[in-house]
Amino acid sequence: MRVLRNRLRLDQTAFAAYLNEKLDRRYSKHKVSNWETGGDRVPKEVQLLVDEELSAALVLAVCNQKGGVGKTTTTVQLAAGLALRGKRVLIVDCDPQASATAALGLPAGDLFRARRTLFHVLVEERPIAETIVKGIQGIEHLDGVASHIELGGVEMLREPGRELLLREQLAAVRSDYDYILLDGPPNLGLLMQCILTAADEVLIPVRPEPLDTMGLALMLTTIGKIQKRTNKGLRVIGILPTLAKSRAVELEVIQSLLESTTVPVLKHVPDSASFSMALAAGRIAIEQRPKAKGVSTYVDMVERMLRGEPLSLETMMPSDAGAV
Ligand SMILES: Nc1ncnc2c1ncn2[C@@H]1O[C@H](COP(=O)(O)OP(=O)(O)OP(=O)(O)O)[C@@H](O)[C@H]1O
Ligand SMILES: [Mg+2]
Repeated sequence: MRVLRNRLRLDQTAFAAYLNEKLDRRYSKHKVSNWETGGDRVPKEVQLLVDEELSAALVLAVCNQKGGVGKTTTTVQLAAGLALRGKRVLIVDCDPQASATAALGLPAGDLFRARRTLFHVLVEERPIAETIVKGIQGIEHLDGVASHIELGGVEMLREPGRELLLREQLAAVRSDYDYILLDGPPNLGLLMQCILTAADEVLIPVRPEPLDTMGLALMLTTIGKIQKRTNKGLRVIGILPTLAKSRAVELEVIQSLLESTTVPVLKHVPDSASFSMALAAGRIAIEQRPKAKGVSTYVDMVERMLRGEPLSLETMMPSDAGAV
C-alpha cells in the first residue's frame, strides 16, 4: 500500500481521500496508518484496488506547448533509462513531427505503410497492441508506437469524446507495462488534450529563458482545465528546466520560477553535447554515456522514479558553473 501511496505522491490523509472517492467509503488517515504498520487487516476491496493500480503502468506525459524545450529528449532518456533497469516501458510518440520516432531509429515511412503508427490507432481505431514495435535498439523492455506527419490529421476529428481516444486505447495495454511515456507536440491542440486526459502524471520541460517561461502559465491553465473536465487525477510532477547553460539570465529565470510557482521546480538538466552526439551515432545518450554531463541528471531521475521517491528539486544553479 505504501508503494502505491508513494507512487501517487500522497500523504496518508490524501490517500484515505483517494480510497474514499474510488470506493465510496469513509476511511481516515488513522486507518491508512494502521494498515501500513500491520496494526489492522487491509479490507479485501482495498487490497484489490491497490493490487490493480500497482499492476497497471504509470502513464507519464512530457508536455509543453512551447517548441524545442527538451520534451523528446526527456521522454526518450527516461524511457530508455527505465527499460535498461528492467522496467517494461512503452514510449508513444504523440507528435506529428515524429522526433521521438526518429531518435529511437524507427522507420516512420515503413511503419505508416504497415498501418502501425499512432495515426492508425487514433484515426482508424486500430488496436494499439497491433502497432507496437518491441525491443527498440536491442533494449529488451523498450517498446514504442511510432508517429508520422499524417498524425496531424487527428486535429480534424469531430467525433464525440475525442479527447478520450488515447486513454481508451492505452487501457488495453496498461497491464503489459510498468511505465508508458507520452511525448507531446509543441501546441495546445487535440493531441495535447488526448495526452493529458490519458496521463496519470505530467512533466513540463522548460528552457530557462524569459519568453519560454511566460508560456508556462498557459500550460498550467490548460492542465487545470483538464483536471476539472476530463482527468481529475492528473498530477503535475514538476517543471524541468532544460538546456541550461548557467548564464546569469537563466539563473534569474530559475530563481523567479522557484519564487512564483507552487509546482515543484526540478533540478535542471545542463546543456550538453552528449545528447546530439549520441543521436548522430544512432544511439540513446542514457545508454551510451550515462555518466556524461546532462545525461546523469536523467539517470538520477530514473533511479528516484524506481525508488518511488520525489524527483530532486532545484535549489539554485551552482555559482561556479560559469555564469556570465
Ligand atoms: N540538455 C540538453 N543539452 C543540449 N542539447 C539538448 C538538451 N536537451 C535537448 N537538447 C537538444 O535540443 C533540441 C531540442 O530538443 P527536443 O527535440 O528534445 O525538444 P522538444 O521540446 O521535443 O522539441 P519540439 O517542440 O520540436 O518537439 C534537440 O536538438 C536536442 O538534441
Ligand atoms: Mg519533441
